[in-house]
Amino acid sequence: MSKDNFHSNDFSSSIGFIIACVGSAVGLGNLWKFPYITYENGGGAFVLVYLLSIMLVGLPLLLSEIMIGKSGKQNVYATFKTLSNNNQFWKIVGGLALLTSFVILSYYSVVAGWTLEYFISSLGSNLKVFTSETIGDHFSSFVGNGSKQVIFHTIFMFLTGAIVYLGTQGIEKAVKVLMPLLFLFVVIIMAISLSNYGFSDSFNFLFHFDFSKLKASSILEALGHAFFTLSLGMGVMIIYGSYLPKNVNIIRASLYIMFFDTLMAIMACFMIYPIIFGTGLKMNESSSMLFTALTVQFNALPMGEYISALFYLLVAFAALTSTISLLEPIVSFISEEFKINRKKATLLSALFVWAFGILSALSNGANELLTKVSFFDKADHLASNWGLTLGGICVSIFVGYKLSSKTHLQELKIEKKSLFYSYFLTCVKFITPVFILLIILTKIGVF
Ligand code: TRP
Repeated sequence: MSKDNFHSNDFSSSIGFIIACVGSAVGLGNLWKFPYITYENGGGAFVLVYLLSIMLVGLPLLLSEIMIGKSGKQNVYATFKTLSNNNQFWKIVGGLALLTSFVILSYYSVVAGWTLEYFISSLGSNLKVFTSETIGDHFSSFVGNGSKQVIFHTIFMFLTGAIVYLGTQGIEKAVKVLMPLLFLFVVIIMAISLSNYGFSDSFNFLFHFDFSKLKASSILEALGHAFFTLSLGMGVMIIYGSYLPKNVNIIRASLYIMFFDTLMAIMACFMIYPIIFGTGLKMNESSSMLFTALTVQFNALPMGEYISALFYLLVAFAALTSTISLLEPIVSFISEEFKINRKKATLLSALFVWAFGILSALSNGANELLTKVSFFDKADHLASNWGLTLGGICVSIFVGYKLSSKTHLQELKIEKKSLFYSYFLTCVKFITPVFILLIILTKIGVF
């Protein structure tokens, strides 16, 4: 039950909740970043370290966020306020999480807009003319084209707002259509890629455990990614958790979310690696790889324009199920704290985010000043490096030291003496915060 009339309805079932969380978790992190960092860090051994990071940082934090949301049953800010008995520090933590989701959404929508444009261009065969020499310039001129950037950012924010406007039910309906399609598209592209370029190189690379290639920085990278890929540290899982129907087993739900997120990351490797290994393409460092090198590679395949169109549509779907999860915490905050109805709150939130996002949209060449201060990169750096990690460490400390073990046990529905509870408590109290602290110290440059 909601504490006031402004809090949205619960998800209709635990399946709806799980799909919505998987939708939030599966995004560019799985489709691009995981294959890329795994490649950079030498394959198999890194995958093992990543899986360990998921167990020691990802899962405990995911459980923690859902637990906070479920006990609070309000927007992120009010939840921290109530559960901490109005403590000033924890209210700031709630506010910080909201600010982070606001900033991330503003530029995520710009990138998501690129996928829409590439989808349309692929269908019209407009990308076929580019070669690996010319595609880079095409991409730069596209992101530097102010009106195109604003148009596609606007379309994407509109789609996001339209779904969130319909409340939890709208989100649930959308993810139930988008996620199975996304899964299907990944399977199709993976099959095309494997049948054109073979399976064994990719398989050997991913599952050959050569620890000699592992560096200390790989471990930190794996830790950081475990965190990012599950959408932790910014209140998204807290708000979805607040819509969790009673009697849902949150341990089981979290395990499913973790499983599907990891599965999608591994499948993305089997989608991209065969192309990389088969064509001798270099995985390049820049985030533009999805819009440059891969585009050219798709063109080389039979019916390449359709495969390319399917791929960009896939990425757009993955982004859309993430952007709705980013808008929701903001909408619930505005609606509940300012007591305005949800629909108006959605319009207002989407409008604010859209306006702020324009600054990022114009900062890749369209506007001189914004480009010079690299607004887009600054926003990304601040929110994803600082906002997420600070949010994450606070969440684990909050659950580990502020919430009582009675609350833990009640929400997890397990016995105090159970092995799982010892694992959970050891992680949230000690292991998870220490690991996140290591990530933060590395970012500051201590190591
Ligand atoms: N998990 C998303 C991915 O893997 C990215 C992400 C991080 C995210 N934090 C988020 C998405 C919060 C939505 C909400 O691509």
